[in-house]
Amino acid sequence: MKINRHYLDLEESYLFSTINTKVSAYKKDHSEAEVIRLGIGDVTLPLPQVCVDAMKEAADEQSHAETFRGYGPEQGYPFLREAIAGYYEKKGIGLAASEVFVSDGAKSDLGNILDIFSEENTVLIPDPVYPVYVDTNVMAGRKIVYMDACAENGFLPMPDPALKADIIYLCSPNNPTGAAYTKEQLAAWVSYALDNSAVILYDAAYEAFVSDPDLPRSIYEVENADRCAIEFCSFSKTAGFTGTRCGWTVVPDALIFDGVRLNQLWLRRQTTKFNGVSYIVQCGAAAVFSEEGQRQVKANIDVYRGNARIIAQTLTECGVWFTGGENSPYIWLACPDGMDSWDFFDALLEQANVVGTPGAGFGKNGKSFFRLTSFGSPDATREAMKRIRTFLKKEETAD
Ligand code: MLT
Repeated sequence: MKINRHYLDLEESYLFSTINTKVSAYKKDHSEAEVIRLGIGDVTLPLPQVCVDAMKEAADEQSHAETFRGYGPEQGYPFLREAIAGYYEKKGIGLAASEVFVSDGAKSDLGNILDIFSEENTVLIPDPVYPVYVDTNVMAGRKIVYMDACAENGFLPMPDPALKADIIYLCSPNNPTGAAYTKEQLAAWVSYALDNSAVILYDAAYEAFVSDPDLPRSIYEVENADRCAIEFCSFSKTAGFTGTRCGWTVVPDALIFDGVRLNQLWLRRQTTKFNGVSYIVQCGAAAVFSEEGQRQVKANIDVYRGNARIIAQTLTECGVWFTGGENSPYIWLACPDGMDSWDFFDALLEQANVVGTPGAGFGKNGKSFFRLTSFGSPDATREAMKRIRTFLKKEETAD
């Protein structure tokens, strides 16, 4: 038996597991420390009440023989697929329910989708980037080409006609930098993908955080994107489903490569390897699209937007360069004095008891940047900012 040796090319542990291990070790030695976590983008507000009510009702149905449901369709119940298609329709995007696949979250599908692509493909990935895109391709031994996302290009790399790639990852609003592509910029990517017979894997997990009405919330707002893009989305950050687990993937019928419809391949993959999301969870997810659901979700997002403003205000006051936070829950800041991001992580944990995410964990271009999330509670966010202000002042005086 031979193992998949590509796993040996990975970092020893996944970014957020490494952070957790570091924080747990610190807490073991400092049990009195009240550590505030603004590291992993995990939500803190409870599920919207409409989702809870829908899930309770569904659980009740499961307790009666007449309404009990066993295995569901692997690709999701029609009621949820139709509700998602309806959500797109409101944005002016026409999708058939059969083009929507319900999943247990964007992260799983972003990794699983690679099953339908040859390992010979070259992958184009921005740096810095959500580590899942890189790790899942390293696991398969695919060739990865990086494109720089930096302050000079607003952390939004654009296509380089000299570069040939088959699979392109785009995430907008971006994790970790918070930058968001305009429609014109996305149109340039669509045109590049069509010219190169490439597929775009578009991570739209943070679309609900876009506050600028001129910015796109789906790649399908761009003409012809249905011929080159697969879109991944999630209920995690929008409706607090990080622990409940539900998301969706759009694989348009118009996506045809090598004469094969990708929708067909993905359906084949999912029906073989996935047994679907639980009926109860799908009922909770469908409730998000009701009028009341949309109102409750917006109220939650507004709280996180308020946190982003608190963080932005503090960093501005302290003269720290940052970006993001306006159309995204993430704030991407330059570590003071060009400090290495892991050193900044350690210093902040030890001296302010605040956890963030070192930019280096997202790629080499992140090595002197740091990510804070706005998903904490408003009180915790305010307290964290108070501590960061004191920490930065102390650093300044020490200089
Ligand atoms: C993050 O912090 O980047 C995300 O929460 C991770 C994820 O969604 O898997």
